[in-house]
Amino acid sequence: MGSIFVTDRDGVEHKIEANNGLTLMEIIRDAGLPIEASCGGCCACATCHVYVDEKWFSKLKEKESAEQDMLDVAFEPNSFSRLSCQLQVSDELDGLVVKMPSKQA
Ligand code: FES
Repeated sequence: MGSIFVTDRDGVEHKIEANNGLTLMEIIRDAGLPIEASCGGCCACATCHVYVDEKWFSKLKEKESAEQDMLDVAFEPNSFSRLSCQLQVSDELDGLVVKMPSKQA
């Protein structure tokens, strides 16, 4: 697919190679960044919460209600929040920019 750019909790940006078919959460986790993702991607924990760069947010598929319900209990969500386990990467997301929150709730 290409690359995604993830800013970690210390403000360090990581360029990560990404393969189609994986979720953003899996890519972040497999790169060794500290994403909790405690439910393993079942949309049941909100510990894979990320902030999507404003320029990219509208390119993502719409949230389903279950994702919004979990985001409502995430740590400091904002209008650019998404659950990374609900985002399947594809060629259209080459260059995606996201930021990890200061903690995962
Ligand atoms: Fe639990 Fe995404 S990993 S909601």
